[in-house]
Amino acid sequence: MIPFLDLRAQYKQLKPEIDAAVTRVIDSAQFVLGPEVAAFEECFSDYCGVTHCTALNSGTSALHLALLAAGIGRGDEVITVSMTFVATAAAISYSGARPVFVDVKPDTWTMNPALIEAAITPRTKAILPVHLHGLMADMDPIIDIARRHGLVVIEDAAQSHGAEYKGRRAGSIGDVGCFSFYPGKNLGAYGEGGAAVTNNPDLARQMMLLRDWGQESKYNHVVAGYNYRMDGIQGAVLNVKMNYIEGWTEARRAIASHYDRLLASSRYCRPAPPAHCRHVYHVYAIELTERDEVQKALQAAGIGTGIHYPVPVHLQKAYADLGYRPDDLPVTEALADRFLSLPIYAELRPEQAAEVVRALDQASLVEAA
Ligand SMILES: Cc1ncc(COP(=O)(O)O)c(C=O)c1O
Repeated sequence: MIPFLDLRAQYKQLKPEIDAAVTRVIDSAQFVLGPEVAAFEECFSDYCGVTHCTALNSGTSALHLALLAAGIGRGDEVITVSMTFVATAAAISYSGARPVFVDVKPDTWTMNPALIEAAITPRTKAILPVHLHGLMADMDPIIDIARRHGLVVIEDAAQSHGAEYKGRRAGSIGDVGCFSFYPGKNLGAYGEGGAAVTNNPDLARQMMLLRDWGQESKYNHVVAGYNYRMDGIQGAVLNVKMNYIEGWTEARRAIASHYDRLLASSRYCRPAPPAHCRHVYHVYAIELTERDEVQKALQAAGIGTGIHYPVPVHLQKAYADLGYRPDDLPVTEALADRFLSLPIYAELRPEQAAEVVRALDQASLVEAA
């Protein structure tokens, strides 16, 4: 049996450190924010190469607060992609703005910068690229378009802790970078968690206020805020994990290279990261036409897989009122039909990756026959 994800394997290695960190928080009774969260904010901003980090209770909250801090609200439009987790669009809706979707590039699966300018209207206020699967979007042309049109850039870096574009870390290129620490992420908390990073002290101050009921001091509410604070226990767990994130990322990259070699002569499209990008492989997806049948056959062979994502956001019932139709985003829609995510995590052994590819070969031979 090879599960798609194995969170217990990581805990087994870290148990004494994690248990001690959690006990420390319980002993101190600093359950919300507190010193562990403050220490994590410092560590994570260094890791991202930025000056400020606001620790939050989810990646969705990070996107929501980034939009609010940038002054985006009712009547505004935010250009993003539909090949993403629904949270990207949901956060835009929470702010009162309207998500406007552009298609992705067929080779990198991230926002196609060539399509952005045609989507800009007088209502457009921001561009929100998603670093899908751990590969950063093509940031140079995105930043160039944003600067020319006076738009804010918010990076959805929920899947891309430590990813790089031309030597710069995910979250450090746009005005704000938003991360998720959902347990299955490359850097995962033991519950919900998120963070917004920035080099802009005004945006950071605004996000700090908004996450804690808009309080400047106790019971002094200067803006209408939210309860988006990070738990002390999550800060403590994440501090432990910060010592390991680089090793885990390199292990993921090694597994991805192994899959690349094993699949080199196959007919599947594989991730094609440009040379100037450090892909951190939150997901290793391949494209195959008979995906659903192959996924079932792999399941029967004891191999867990995932689909990220089977129905793009613009075709979800929840977003029907935006008025999109099938064929509006042809690359995104084709990927949604063909994507299959293979198991990838630091503890996956090379022989297990080989086993996955053997089972994949067998399953697709049967389907092709
Ligand atoms: C691309 C993307 N954006 C946003 C989110 C939202 O993060 P969270 O689940 O921490 O709210 C996620 C994670 O699930 C995600 O994958």
